[in-house]
This record gives sequence, structure tokens and C-alpha cells, in this order.
Amino acid sequence: THQWRGIIEEYRDRLPVSDSTPVVTLREGGTPLVPAQVLSERTGCEVHLKVEGANPTGSFKDRGMTMAITRAKEEGAKAVICASTGNTSASAAAYAVRAGMVCAVLVPQGKIALGKMGQALVHGAKILQVDGNFDDCLTLARGLSDNYPVALVNSVNPVRIEGQKTAAFEIVDMLGDAPDIHVLPVGNAGNITAYWKGYTEYAADGVATRTPRMWGFQASGSAPIVRGEIVKDPSTIATAIRIGNPASWQYAIAARDESGGFIDEVTDREILRAYRLLASQEGVFVEPASAASVAGLLKAAEQGKVDPGQRIVCTVTGNGLKDPDWAVAGAPQPVTVPVDAAAAAERLGLA
Ligand code: F0G
Repeated sequence: THQWRGIIEEYRDRLPVSDSTPVVTLREGGTPLVPAQVLSERTGCEVHLKVEGANPTGSFKDRGMTMAITRAKEEGAKAVICASTGNTSASAAAYAVRAGMVCAVLVPQGKIALGKMGQALVHGAKILQVDGNFDDCLTLARGLSDNYPVALVNSVNPVRIEGQKTAAFEIVDMLGDAPDIHVLPVGNAGNITAYWKGYTEYAADGVATRTPRMWGFQASGSAPIVRGEIVKDPSTIATAIRIGNPASWQYAIAARDESGGFIDEVTDREILRAYRLLASQEGVFVEPASAASVAGLLKAAEQGKVDPGQRIVCTVTGNGLKDPDWAVAGAPQPVTVPVDAAAAAERLGLA
């Protein structure tokens, strides 16, 4: 009879809702904080994974979307729109169904993972593939919401950030205080903004005694914040963070500087290495973009930037099932055996 009620009910007093707000929820949040044994050994630290792929639509976007759709419903919106590299659109599509709203999504043509496209389709969203990248999609979505009766649910909508900050609350609630370091992937930079807001609110109210240093990682081919300039044609196999002009750029820099952290880049090769390590050694299957946090932690450790003994949380943002192509690619083909125990045992190396 006692299940997690979703982030709005669990953190109601810290979110912009009133008693009469019609809450639209799929019971998002309350995700596992999993001790990472191999990463802890490698770094000499106490490393935890915040497994956001365990959310209802398989990514952290659900935390922001329950807030965005709830508030859109409260304001009487009949339709919502978003630009997306895939996860925001999957989440918006599902929550719009719950709210009885029409959902329109703008995605970069050919650059979103199949699982995410399948989610938007099955939830009945109106999908437009844009002949451009995510940044172009966001420009278009903003223009449409400015001029037509449709509410924008991208993270430029501040209530999205409010919802997503609850992940930091959960971590402090679980650990008893903030970690020393928080590591996460950076794309449009909404999530690093949201975590920093959550951590600073808890510290200001004395729930935590301190805030962590925020470490963010972009993919090398899509690293505008690291380079200090817009990337016109972003590229990376981590399509979720293939973004050249992040909307929350300035907030990400503020989070970095106020926390005493840094934002760096990781190559696709480093991302895929971390992706395979997480799956094969920690038992946690994430999508490639999510592995950027862990790739970054390993890179920082190799550079001697990680003092031993620290408590570190890495957010892994999305479920591996979103984009299974990378799990299958390069893996050995399963062998076929007859219905015969001896033959099967031999193939398994048991005999
Ligand atoms: N990881 C995943 C799996 C994502 O889907 C995203 C963003 C990020 C990390 C980066 O988070 O943008 O807050 O810095 N995906 C957005 C989308 C852009 O449309 O689904 P961010």
C-alpha cells in the first residue's frame, strides 16, 4: 500500500504547486542510488550511480515533465510542444496522454535513437522530423509556442528545472548529506542547472551541510561550453547530447563556478568504454550519453584530479534499452545449438 507517490507529492513543499493544482504523474523519481563497486575500486572513492533510467519513460526527463505538464494543465493548455534529441519527446508524449493533451515533438531527422522514436509514436505524439539539428528544433519550437496556442515544455520552461532538482534532494535524503562531487552528462545544460539548484536549496535550508563540486561532461564533437563557442554542426554517437548551443549555457557555467567544479569533454571512444564497463562490470545498462558522466570520472581519475576517499555520485540519465544498437554492435554473435545438453554444455565451457 505504500508506494512512492511521484516527485510532486514527495517534495510538494519545495515545488511551485498549490492544493488545487491538478497533478499529472506517472510516479516518477524515487530512483535507485546504486553503489558502484568497480568504479569505487578504480578511483579509491565511494562512487554511487543515480540510475535515472528507472523512471517511468526511462530517463530523468520525467521529473521535469510531471511539473511542466501539471502546470500546463493548470493553465488550461490543450497542446504542448518540445524540441528533443529523443528523451524529452518520449516523456512529453507519455505525460500528455495522462493529461489528455495533444503533444507535438520536433526531432532532428535521423539523429534520434529508435527506442525513443518508438515511445513518441506509441504514445500518439505528432512528430515532425526537422531537417536540422536539435538547436534548430528548439528555435522552431520556441517560435511556435510564441505565436500559436501550444505550451513549450523544454527545459527553458523554468518549472522543468524545478522538477528535475528533486534528484539532488533524493541523493541528500539517501546519503544524509551532499556528496563531495556530483558528475553528470551535459547537453542542453538543464540538468546540471537543476541539480545545482536542488543542492543549493537544501544547503540554504540546512538539510545538507554543504554542496558538492559539480563536474559536467560534454561529448568532444558537441562541446560548446568547453570550447567557449557555439558548435555549428555538433556530432557524437551519444545522440541525446548532440547539442551545439545549450539553452542553459550560462546557468551551467554558474553551477560550475559557484560549486568549484569544472566542465570537460569526453570522446565517443571514452563514452563507449564507460558504457561497456557499466553494463559488464556494474550490471547497469545505460544509453551512451549517460555514460559520459562515468567516462568523465574515469578520465579525471587518470589525470590525477580525483583525491581518494571522496563520496561521488554519477547520474546515469537514461536507460540502455533506448538505444540498443550500441549494445549489439561489435558484440559476438550468439551461437546456435541443437536441443542437446551435451552440446550446450560444451558451448558454455561447462564440459
Ligand atoms: N542524458 C540524456 C540521456 C539526455 O537525454 C539528455 C538530454 C542529457 C543527458 C543532457 O541533459 O540537456 O539537461 O544537459 N536530452 C534532451 C532531450 C536534450 O531532448 O531529450 P541536459
